Amino acid sequence: MYEMLSQDHAKQAQILRKVCEDAVSFLEQRPSRTVAPFYQEQTLRHLPQQGMGAEAARKLFSEDYLPWIPASSGGRYFGYVIGGVTPAALAGDWYTSLYDQNAFGHPGTVDRQIEAETLQLIRDLLDLPKDFFGVFVSGATTSAMTAMVCARQWAAGQTGHSASEEGLYGLERPDVASGLTHGANYKALSMAGIGRKVHALPLLPGREAVDPAALEAYLADRDPKKPLIYIANMGTASSGDHDDLNAIAELKKKYNFWLHVDGAFGGMMACSPKYAGLFKGLAEADSITMDTHKWLNVPYDGAVILCRHPDLQYQSFTNALSASGAVPNQASHYHMTPEGSRRLRALPVWFTLLAYGKEGYADLCERNVALCEYYGQKVEASPYFRLLNQVRGNVVCFTLNLPEDRIAQSDIQEILDKLQAEGVTYSNMGSFYGKPALRVCLTNWMTEPADVDAAFASMENCSKAVFDRIRP
Ligand SMILES: Cc1ncc(COP(=O)(O)O)c(C=O)c1O
Repeated sequence: MYEMLSQDHAKQAQILRKVCEDAVSFLEQRPSRTVAPFYQEQTLRHLPQQGMGAEAARKLFSEDYLPWIPASSGGRYFGYVIGGVTPAALAGDWYTSLYDQNAFGHPGTVDRQIEAETLQLIRDLLDLPKDFFGVFVSGATTSAMTAMVCARQWAAGQTGHSASEEGLYGLERPDVASGLTHGANYKALSMAGIGRKVHALPLLPGREAVDPAALEAYLADRDPKKPLIYIANMGTASSGDHDDLNAIAELKKKYNFWLHVDGAFGGMMACSPKYAGLFKGLAEADSITMDTHKWLNVPYDGAVILCRHPDLQYQSFTNALSASGAVPNQASHYHMTPEGSRRLRALPVWFTLLAYGKEGYADLCERNVALCEYYGQKVEASPYFRLLNQVRGNVVCFTLNLPEDRIAQSDIQEILDKLQAEGVTYSNMGSFYGKPALRVCLTNWMTEPADVDAAFASMENCSKAVFDRIRP
């Protein structure tokens, strides 16, 4: 055995103890850490001829990189849609690496049981019927791609074809429509060979939710023989808005279309008794995307694809030579995902869902939404800002309280750069009705009112000079 590897093998327990010490000190110091430090790229190092061993690698990492690791898993990181990590999820994730299972999902294996059971926990969380088959993938983009591949198989089947057997080249393209589509879905459509064109339907005034009457008019007006994929939103990135899934579920009784719900983060709202009534229609979807690394507060990376057409999923993703017919009983999980070998991503989810249950997750969701409403109230009360969205979820979208035509994208960016330099919080640029906007998104179990107070004070502080400079 290579000498350095042999030495590390002998010191395995010591190495792990040090990791544990580092973990505890990182978690303890996280609240006072700069939320998102700028990192100046360095020259790339080359592979050493002789290895340095785990301890020297650890030392190098802690000197060269650790100081620039953002506290993005802490309670004041409000950019993009970045989830935190619950204590149980972190433990589950460590065990995932420790046991290092390839989650093929073969019958007679414990990984198959854990993944299937975790999907049952997720169905329970979202109140979904058992006929939703689910598997873990790396993220919402891959989940959406999996859904679109299943949808194209369904679309081809409408005219007696199989996209997975024949390819797409002789087939008519299905229509794709949505109120507002996250970029991940364009990517998913492209990867699925359907192409990025999405018919954009009218939105409700001042919102990012589709106008259900306009959707119905569109459905009534089109050739019903032409397959249609409708991509519904459950949580838009810029304003956290959601389509009226209950109305869309009603339309599904009258019209034939594939309903995909992008619930990458907003899917979580179905777990709260306070909001669940708004999302009953989720149960009527053909496919649902939900990340676990966002609002579920599980470490990167992970998402689920929930699809109630396992036969189509099998036809699309099996390794078998012929891909027609029904999914065989006991098909291994790798026949149902774009991946072959994969990490047991279910395990940290299993840990956290069992640790905190439906109540714990409803509380997390409701607290984040309440804190967003609180942030929104602060925005409304400030002379510097104008609220752009009614807070319906975990996103606040706002801009400077100035005439729209005076606010340039560079002004918003200047505020965000100052905010990042101040280091108290982090936010990123949103776009609301095509205009650049400030946005904050709360997806972390740790966020408390004091974090919102500090983050808002910093946002206001960083905006004043820009406001004064550009006001008429
Ligand atoms: C609504 C929505 N859909 C899809 C995605 C893509 O998610 P991922 O980066 O996990 O692929 C995001 C990411 O923020 C999102 O907000």
